Amino acid sequence: MRAVFITGGTTGIGLELAKHYLSQGWKVGVCARDRQKFDENFISHRDNVTFYQVDVSEREQLKAAISSFSKSIGLDLLIANAGIGYKKKSRVPDFEYTYKMVQVNLLGVMYSFEAALDVMIPRGKGQLVAISSIAGYNGLPGVAGYSATKAAVSKYCESLHLDLKQFNIPVTTICPGFVETPLTSTNRHSMPFLMRAPKAAKLIARAIEKKKMVYAFPFIFSSIVRLIGMLPRTWYRFIITRKALDYSRE
Ligand SMILES: NC(=O)c1ccc[n+]([C@@H]2O[C@H](COP(=O)([O-])OP(=O)(O)OC[C@H]3O[C@@H](n4cnc5c(N)ncnc54)[C@H](OP(=O)(O)O)[C@@H]3O)[C@@H](O)[C@H]2O)c1
Repeated sequence: MRAVFITGGTTGIGLELAKHYLSQGWKVGVCARDRQKFDENFISHRDNVTFYQVDVSEREQLKAAISSFSKSIGLDLLIANAGIGYKKKSRVPDFEYTYKMVQVNLLGVMYSFEAALDVMIPRGKGQLVAISSIAGYNGLPGVAGYSATKAAVSKYCESLHLDLKQFNIPVTTICPGFVETPLTSTNRHSMPFLMRAPKAAKLIARAIEKKKMVYAFPFIFSSIVRLIGMLPRTWYRFIITRKALDYSRE
């Protein structure tokens, strides 16, 4: 039986990924800060899923959880999914929250990869996945910390993909567009090509199975965002600050 550990697997994309792997007969480990969300969302399949109450910004806690799961169950796949966004997008930087975002969105990914690699490198097998975002393709107004942490995660994974080939450990970066989850539920702006979380999880799981290096979706939206990112920066700044696109003005 195969085993996956998913950080932030109690709501949204992580929850749907957990459900997907459970339906495929995998053993699943999930971690998050709030046990209640786990109790509410995992009514069935309880025998095959293990919950760890862990904040991913706490390196030792996370290491202990991943190590315990791998020793008792196994570890074929690690999905670093836990992440936070800004509840309110603003042009006035909120440094305290941005520092927290760096700890969760960036260091949380690094800590989980570190713990997984302690197990995977000696075995010479395994797979690492990070849920980044297409928000990392460009510096977006109003969400500087989010754009920066996601850009850093994508580049970090791109490097690791090269470095870990020698150990037979593929690294996959997932860059979703807008997905309907608690994270986006506070957005009051329009969310083009908004996708339901179960569908997003299915697409992500397929990309993981194919061991893709990068998977960005939905195709049309992610292509538009990438194209905008290739424009000369003066053009980019002109387009992104148009009223219809500037979400920090919501
Ligand atoms: N939804 C989108 O449109 C979208 C688009 C692109 C990328 N993403 C990325 O996809 C990932 C999942 O997002 P989502 O939309 O599914 O969000 P979500 O529904 O808010 O779920 C976030 C999950 O992470 C956990 N979490 C948050 N902070 C944590 C921490 N410090 N330590 C441990 N667990 C933590 C949450 O549980 P607790 O609060 O109980 O800890 C929850 O299980 C994130 O990395 C996000 O940036 C989302």
